[in-house]
Amino acid sequence: MIYMDNAASSPLRPEVLETMLPYMRSVGNPSSIHRDGRSARRGVEGARRHVAALLNADPSEILFTSGGTEANNTALRGVSGGRLVTTSIEHESVLEPCRAQGARPVTYLEPDSTGTIPPETLDESLSEPAALVSIMTANNEVGTIQDVRALAGVCRRHGAVFHTDMVQAAGKIPVDVKSWGVDMASVSAHKIGGPMGVGALYVRSGTEMEPLVLGGGQESGMRSGTENVAGIVGFGEACRLARAEMSRNIPYVSSLRDQLVSRLLEIPHSGLNGHPTSRLPGNAHLAFLGVNGEDLIIKLDENGIAASTGSACSVHTQKESHVLRAMNLPAETISSSLRLTLGPQNTSEEVGKVAEAMPHIVSELRAVSPLRERYGF
Ligand SMILES: Cc1ncc(COP(=O)(O)O)c(C=O)c1O
Repeated sequence: MIYMDNAASSPLRPEVLETMLPYMRSVGNPSSIHRDGRSARRGVEGARRHVAALLNADPSEILFTSGGTEANNTALRGVSGGRLVTTSIEHESVLEPCRAQGARPVTYLEPDSTGTIPPETLDESLSEPAALVSIMTANNEVGTIQDVRALAGVCRRHGAVFHTDMVQAAGKIPVDVKSWGVDMASVSAHKIGGPMGVGALYVRSGTEMEPLVLGGGQESGMRSGTENVAGIVGFGEACRLARAEMSRNIPYVSSLRDQLVSRLLEIPHSGLNGHPTSRLPGNAHLAFLGVNGEDLIIKLDENGIAASTGSACSVHTQKESHVLRAMNLPAETISSSLRLTLGPQNTSEEVGKVAEAMPHIVSELRAVSPLRERYGF
């Protein structure tokens, strides 16, 4: 299988698994005072330092969670007060808690056609007071990267707390919560070679918020529940490796992505979605007119290639992408879109194989397309 669905989940790195195994075998609860407990606690605190280093945060500002979804829910449900401002291109784990805010007013900012939220749009919206703003660092479908430093600066000027969903960005591009002026940021392990079911929320020291999960008071009372020690240790190792390898991975993955995009754009009636340059290194999101995106994925799967149309969650709802719709793309582009997301484990040879298979698959599907006559495929 050629795996090009790294934005949905990335392969667990062998080094990460190795660091997890002793903790999976041992019994210690990090809250216990005995030797096994202390050893588990050391594992958790070591991982906290690695996660913090990746974000340029202080370890005391990192709360471990069950993943990006819980981190987003904790942020959005934890800061109460006035209006909430977010965007129409967020992941469902931001949008759903926004929809569940009851009587609290929520404003959804619209992106431009590249998936960018201009800081001026936020500035305009904040002429009316807001308590909390949540804007993702990089989009999971089209890979567009926001100017988070500028967006955070706007929030600071208006006195709003700023949260950003960094699940797709952290570990793939440099992020810096301190110098950007971010108050809260969500991250997840399984997008960067760590295990599924573990993530973290960065909460800037001094930010006022309430916990989502109550109980035994773990994570400084901000997230109760016995820690997922092995998962947390694996997450820490994935962050350490991502940080150490980032300067090598960014040019490598970007060049694979560029090779893939330029080969696929040779297919007639194809186009790239998202921002041409301000996009995640591994994201190739393209439309092939006249072809249904889901049919394309099935055909690719039959050819040993794992791809996606967009977010993994949209599979459950079967509705058209809310991100592409918000970007105001034509209906034909939306239904014919495909997301290929690359990671450091992909190779130039794999890119070549996908680029070779695609024109045949697209032609095959276009031969039975209702748009065949109109576009003269
Ligand atoms: C942008 C974004 N936010 C949040 C999540 C949810 O993260 P997790 O799978 O760790 O709950 C994802 C994963 O699909 C994502 O892409």
